[in-house]
Amino acid sequence: MCKILELMPGGDALLLRAGVGWKPGLVGTATVGTELGSQAGYTLKVSNSVVVDDLSTETRFSGPSLLREHGVVSGASVIIAGMDGRAYGVLGAHTSRHMRFSRIDVEFLHSVANLVASAIHRNRALERQELLIHELRHRVGNLLSLITSLFNNSARSASSIAELEEKFQARVMSLSRAHSMILEAGWRATSLRGVVDAVLEPYLERIGIEGGDVRVSADNAVALSLALHELATNAAKYGALSTPDGWLTLRWSKRRDGDRILLAVNWHEEGGPTISAPSQSGFGSKLVTTVIERQLNGELKADYLESGLRLHFEIPVV
Ligand SMILES: Nc1ncnc2c1ncn2[C@@H]1O[C@H](COP(=O)(O)OP(=O)(O)OP(=O)(O)O)[C@@H](O)[C@H]1O
Ligand SMILES: [Mg+2]
Repeated sequence: MCKILELMPGGDALLLRAGVGWKPGLVGTATVGTELGSQAGYTLKVSNSVVVDDLSTETRFSGPSLLREHGVVSGASVIIAGMDGRAYGVLGAHTSRHMRFSRIDVEFLHSVANLVASAIHRNRALERQELLIHELRHRVGNLLSLITSLFNNSARSASSIAELEEKFQARVMSLSRAHSMILEAGWRATSLRGVVDAVLEPYLERIGIEGGDVRVSADNAVALSLALHELATNAAKYGALSTPDGWLTLRWSKRRDGDRILLAVNWHEEGGPTISAPSQSGFGSKLVTTVIERQLNGELKADYLESGLRLHFEIPVV
């Protein structure tokens, strides 16, 4: 009898993934515990090959019911290496008659285990690739509809082709900088500071940034980059960044609110022109509100003080 046992997530059980010589219905369903009672569990524990001369007189482990029910007498088992330094499982060969497994038999088993390990490795890499392609298709679709929507809205609020060109290009460029930064991080959680630096790059000399090492999901980072870009463009057009003496302070911190963690962000402009609350909003401020309140489930408060815009928003983060 021969078997490949796969270590299940959690590490408490091994599944009979493949094998020959076992009663019908067991391959794919039967499990063996990893506790020291089983030969496979013992193999994993000692991290070495294990040879059993006679299971009935074995003292290192009692032998699981799978082996006993098949009248197993002798056997040998070796570890099948996994991808991340963790074992994939155990390869075992067993006989119902007494047989002495030699060193060469065990070496042969090791070679088979290595072949099995590399086949599993290749299969998993293929699976991961398929998953990535699926994910990519989804992301490209999202990105294209975002760009289409940015274009339509920029066109609706622009009074000339030149204005449309300038605004749309700036929006896409900022999005592209944020994307590059998030992609470099492997599209995983990204540092908020990195997003801020990427989007506000043209104005960094005029911004005081105060915030700890907060991480945001890749999707939230893209959403935040859109909002930050609109805020910065407005500051450069109408607010603190439109005059040489103006200054922007960007401050963030995390706080607990019941079972949620909120990221609180303050955007304070000062030293710029005297301003007042606008009588009507354009696409930029609508986009900021949509991103913070609808996309990121947050709350936003904007105060147009004479000394400059003061904006505060909070969004739930993990
Ligand atoms: N930081 C700011 N300081 C002073 N006024 C501001 C500031 N941000 C926005 N405003 C005022 O709010 C108005 C609306 O801004 P909003 O971003 O919605 O539209 P816009 O900038 O005029 O056009 P768009 O963003 O579509 O290019 C602006 O016209 C301006 O009067
Ligand atoms: Mg604007």
